[in-house]
Amino acid sequence: MPLFLTFEGGEGSGKTTQIQRLAEALQKRGLPCVLTREPGGTEIGAEIRKILLDSKNSRLGPLAELMLYAADRAQHLGETIRPALRAGKTVLCDRFADATVAYQGFGRGLDLQLISDLNELATGGLKPDRTFLLDLPVEIGLARAKARLARQKSSEGRFEAEAHAFHEKVRQGYLRLSQEEPGRFRVVDATLDVEAIHRRILQEVEPLLEAKP
Ligand code: TMP
Repeated sequence: MPLFLTFEGGEGSGKTTQIQRLAEALQKRGLPCVLTREPGGTEIGAEIRKILLDSKNSRLGPLAELMLYAADRAQHLGETIRPALRAGKTVLCDRFADATVAYQGFGRGLDLQLISDLNELATGGLKPDRTFLLDLPVEIGLARAKARLARQKSSEGRFEAEAHAFHEKVRQGYLRLSQEEPGRFRVVDATLDVEAIHRRILQEVEPLLEAKP
């Protein structure tokens, strides 16, 4: 089986830049890979993403939010992730099941067992080979994310509008997950410069490529 790698972190942690850099590095080595994201890794998922992230949807309740993420994930697994892995492609995914534990579980305070059951249902138990957690202080990440939203005149600001305390719970949730599964998680200091973070990630991925030719 090819590799399944996921990238997690709070707002403005630089995941998207890093995932693109890694995809370029792998493609240069002749390794076919698929770069995808949650929510929104399929056409249907893109519709679900609009509902989830549009800042005008402030009335979306926590349970409906949770179920939309699970629906996006189920579609994504069936339409994108599993077919790509079956075709021998490495999958790089910008957020996955851990995001639901961190945001809806630790952030919103929804039942962690319910989230675990829904994740199991949506993923069929598929786990990433490695998860890179790009960790940085909330205030730095939020400032970056808000600046980007303004620059791009984007309406995807529903989570950026949440209070600092919400994002702090998400950060601590992610760190807890990384402690619970140290074999899978690699925590990367996202305050470092783009090159340094890329090198750190590549250092971790290279041995995996050798182990899984
Ligand atoms: P992003 O594409 O900028 O990472 O935005 C996705 C947003 O959705 C981000 O604020 C985190 C949030 N999210 C959840 O709350 N739960 C999830 O399961 C996922 C995948 C994302």
